Amino acid sequence: MSAPPKTVLRATPEEEAAIRQAVRTAQPGSPDSVLAGPEHVAGLVTLLSDPAVSGPIYDLPRPINAETVSAWVAEAEALRQKGEAILFVSLDPAGEVAGYSRFSVWPDRSSAEIVGGRRADLQSRGQGGAGAARSFGWMFEALGVRLVGLTAALDNVRSARVIEAAGFVRMGERDSVRPDGTVRRSLYWELTRDQWQALQQA
Ligand SMILES: CC(C)(COP(=O)(O)OP(=O)(O)OC[C@H]1O[C@@H](n2cnc3c(N)ncnc32)[C@H](O)[C@@H]1OP(=O)(O)O)[C@@H](O)C(=O)NCCC(=O)NCCS
Repeated sequence: MSAPPKTVLRATPEEEAAIRQAVRTAQPGSPDSVLAGPEHVAGLVTLLSDPAVSGPIYDLPRPINAETVSAWVAEAEALRQKGEAILFVSLDPAGEVAGYSRFSVWPDRSSAEIVGGRRADLQSRGQGGAGAARSFGWMFEALGVRLVGLTAALDNVRSARVIEAAGFVRMGERDSVRPDGTVRRSLYWELTRDQWQALQQA
């Protein structure tokens, strides 16, 4: 299950309310992305059934099938209405699901996390880094959080490169708990909004 960052920030009630409202009303940061709904379940099942996509991701439902993915999409929508999560899918020119991004948000801690993946034929083509950088900035700008914490499997070289290229600071490792209660050891990074803004101006 998604876990908030190691660093504990405390949002004021006003900041927390603003973040919740931003999550509820957020528009995707990328033109090919839309909010996930029941109409995307079949495409998500196909996407996530590929271990090249879902293998490195700890917080997906297992097994992956229409029932579990349908519940996962519905849960994300319920959390979005509370201001605590967003699930976007990206669509290819044919309208097929070509990737997803799930944002977990802790408004009381002014913090967020993103987990996602691209379809295998779109991986390692130099697009993931740019897309991830957009999503990182989007969390600070559109959601208004002050801290983002990220994890990746210990052997996920591509994620680590993308995350470190965006300026995230390595802060050791942590245990990520899968929905079935088993633990995956993860690399762990954080970036604050101040650090991100300084990097934009550098
Ligand atoms: C992680 C992911 C989003 C990255 O997107 P991508 O489009 O594949 O990544 P890119 O092609 O932009 O490459 C990212 C970096 O990894 C490097 N890279 C690409 N393929 C690689 C490979 N097979 N081995 C090692 N490095 C590789 C690239 O050179 C690039 O580094 P650089 O910018 O320093 O040159 C994508 O691979 C993916 O969806 N993976 C499956 C799901 C996943 O791991 N999600 C992340 C969970 S934290």
